[in-house]
Amino acid sequence: DPEYQLYAHPLLPRGKPFLLVVLSGWGEGKEDEYNAIHKSNCVIIKRLRNIYPWRWRTLKAHGDVVGLPTENDPGNGEVGNNALGCGKIIIQRASLVDTAIASGELYKGAGWLYSKEAWVNGGTLHLIGLLSDGGVHSRYDQLAAIIRAAADHCCKKMRLHILTDGRDVPDGTSLGFVEQLEKELEGVRKYGCDAQIASGGGRMFVTMDRYEADWRIVQRGWYAHVLGVSPHKFESATEAITKLKQADPKQVNDQFLPPFVVVRKNGQPWGIIEDEDIVINFNFRADRMIQLSKAFVDENFDKFDRVRWPNVRYVAMVQYDVEAKLPVHFLVAPPVIDKLSGKYLCANGIRTFVVSESQKMGHVTFNWNGNCGSKLDQRLETYHEVQSENVRFELEPEMRTRTIARVAHDALLSGLYDYVRVMFAAADMVGHTHDLEATKRACECIDAAIKLLLNGVDKCGGVFMIVGDHGNCDDMAQREKDGNPLLDDKGRAHPKTSHSMGEVPIGIGGPGLPRCVRFRKNLRNVGLANATATFMNLLGFEAPYHYEPSLLTFDWNKWEFTGV
Ligand code: 3PG
Ligand code: CO
Repeated sequence: DPEYQLYAHPLLPRGKPFLLVVLSGWGEGKEDEYNAIHKSNCVIIKRLRNIYPWRWRTLKAHGDVVGLPTENDPGNGEVGNNALGCGKIIIQRASLVDTAIASGELYKGAGWLYSKEAWVNGGTLHLIGLLSDGGVHSRYDQLAAIIRAAADHCCKKMRLHILTDGRDVPDGTSLGFVEQLEKELEGVRKYGCDAQIASGGGRMFVTMDRYEADWRIVQRGWYAHVLGVSPHKFESATEAITKLKQADPKQVNDQFLPPFVVVRKNGQPWGIIEDEDIVINFNFRADRMIQLSKAFVDENFDKFDRVRWPNVRYVAMVQYDVEAKLPVHFLVAPPVIDKLSGKYLCANGIRTFVVSESQKMGHVTFNWNGNCGSKLDQRLETYHEVQSENVRFELEPEMRTRTIARVAHDALLSGLYDYVRVMFAAADMVGHTHDLEATKRACECIDAAIKLLLNGVDKCGGVFMIVGDHGNCDDMAQREKDGNPLLDDKGRAHPKTSHSMGEVPIGIGGPGLPRCVRFRKNLRNVGLANATATFMNLLGFEAPYHYEPSLLTFDWNKWEFTGV
């Protein structure tokens, strides 16, 4: 495809094996006792940073540079890996929904009208999604706007199916969000809309699986939301959360709350999902709602026994998979993410090997490819998934790091690939548990994995880039406005499960990289998207002109002949 033809870089060689390592949830923050990287023994990363400061710097990974609504929005896996894959700043889903709500366009769109038609005809509106103001998968204020607008547009019966968070927001906040929601529902009941919370569960145990790591999670949600079946029945969501936590305070938190059904006095569920009903999934982010969407829309679904498959109008806040049209109906159109680095590289014959583990496999494939589920080029790309274990992440904080590293190392030395892309999931996944000791172990294991990979780069005379996708394990404490940890009455910091606001490191090197290459210092507001043009240069190409600028510059005092 001539449109995707790249020019050779005038100074940088082609044909050196290139390794790109994405460290998920790895930022560079304040170096205090709540920074798991700083507190752990990450010798390789620290050495790289200190020995080659001209080849190591940080990038912004939150707010405007990744297309999020405000500077208070931390980065996340979807927006960060979208940016890395496409080299541009994309106005992201959270922002698109905000705009559509503010302008009122959302309520004129095809998805809204399709839903409204069914509730006007007596169908119940079910709203399913993550109940928090985390802004990563969903946002409370957007849900509230939808609830009010539906009541305003003659919706007479509404049921809420809520997933408690404690991952993008502090653990323990779920009760507060339920309280807010109950007030909201009380408000619309005054308008004659019969509105109730009907079911729920913790996001990591119920409904929100991703990349098919564990379908049982979705099945639990299906039983609670659709069938109204769960061993845990309560008369309110507040009671459910309180009693389930009391029953097992060690295991149960917001993220891992068991599935529950809210029942009337007579024990009947408030709201099962039936034929002619409408389901609006109010998560805008894709990864953790794709599986539930399939369960609702796929005729030949076979991942678990649905028992009953209601014929509903299923609508997503934002379409989750553009290519698969999943689902067909949505309230807001997804961002257009095109001119992908992978497209350019395939068009120029680059043989690519991608490896991660289940928990984040889609981050380096689906998100890198502009949220498309299939390969860009069957012939040139190999995707290797290492199966994640389904155990609590803090119990095995190394996760599959060693295996990923071994597979990537072998791919690099095989001579079969020009470009090996690796994502390590553990630092982020364990960081979300807020277990500092376990997170330190995750970081150290990744550090050792990098050592193995850099040995591989040395052996094959290659080039490498290491980059984070957003912060997390660099800051494990909730903070006051002044940056000091928020302390409880015993003087301990309140633990933080969510992503940090930290910038992420980017480092380059390897024997194949000419000595004169270093990072520029004069670029402003440098973000993740600048990494893309940079690695295209490292592969020996000029980056497309519409990409954010490359970070590379050349020190002519160190110039040497590279055989270009
Ligand atoms: C999750 O889905 O696990 C968190 O909400 C965000 O994590 P990620 O953006 O790092 O995947
Ligand atoms: Co994360």
